[in-house]
Amino acid sequence: MPTPVRKAVLPVAGFGTRVLPATKAIPKELLPVFDRPAIQYVVDEAREAGIEHIVFVTGRGKQAIEDYFDHAFELEASLKAKGKDQILADVEGSRLPAGGASFTRQQTPSGLGHAVWCARDIVGHEPFAVLLPDVIVKGEPGCLKQMLAAYDDVGGNIIAVEQVPEDQTHKYGIIAPESRDGALIKMKGMVEKPAQGTAPSNLSITGRYVLQPEIFELLAEQGAGAGGEIQLTDSMATLMGQQSFYAYEYQGQSYDCGDKIGYLRAVAAHAVAHADLGDKARETLLDVLG
Ligand code: UTP
Repeated sequence: MPTPVRKAVLPVAGFGTRVLPATKAIPKELLPVFDRPAIQYVVDEAREAGIEHIVFVTGRGKQAIEDYFDHAFELEASLKAKGKDQILADVEGSRLPAGGASFTRQQTPSGLGHAVWCARDIVGHEPFAVLLPDVIVKGEPGCLKQMLAAYDDVGGNIIAVEQVPEDQTHKYGIIAPESRDGALIKMKGMVEKPAQGTAPSNLSITGRYVLQPEIFELLAEQGAGAGGEIQLTDSMATLMGQQSFYAYEYQGQSYDCGDKIGYLRAVAAHAVAHADLGDKARETLLDVLG
């Protein structure tokens, strides 16, 4: 049985440039996707998968994320006094258990690889998950839970992938598969945003990773890559030469809230899927469209 994955790193220090000006004063990860912030869905996914400790890599101007997961004492006391039990339950549900979260800072957003490296001391020498909080993945069970079930069988490193149209591969990190056994794909490489017509497959990296701690040593030594940033992909490509590395084609649907149209799609999908308000939301959307 491989060493269990207990910790998850959520990098939240980016500028959210693609959704400006909405993200000028509000962290991108707190933009509401219908009735809760995007990051809440991702934390729920991690906890459903059995993650015990969440490491947020934050930056300047992101304090609201820490507050969001804290006890909102006055608010909760007021809801309780007014007997607003359902709203109170929703608010209480967003709180993380005492000692179940850590916050560290990435002083400058130097890339995803650098953000993950900032969590090295808190993660320590054990396998961990990384979840990009601007990507919401709808799945039953959640994407990370599916991945950890596969990890129990094969151990090592596993990254979630999904199929994208052939003419869209230049927008994503794409894997080079070697062989396949069901949802698990043995990998021989990966490339960040391949030039059109050169992609080794149509399987794009979704934003969910299970990594071994040796990635930290590689990140420490790694220089800037594409876009002048320290890329996680580059260190993963090196680690692939040293350890078992699989891609996992999860069952579900991802929503990239990092750009305006992706965000709109996420809001619409989560609105119509809402347990109480879904039907009304669907009617409203159709009404708006005329
Ligand atoms: P993105 O590239 O989607 O986020 O990174 P971004 O940099 O905020 O977006 P743009 O390009 O400016 O619009 C995925 C996740 O990684 C975090 C981001 O906060 C986001 O949640 N990230 C990215 C960091 O924490 N640090 C970085 O240096 C880069």
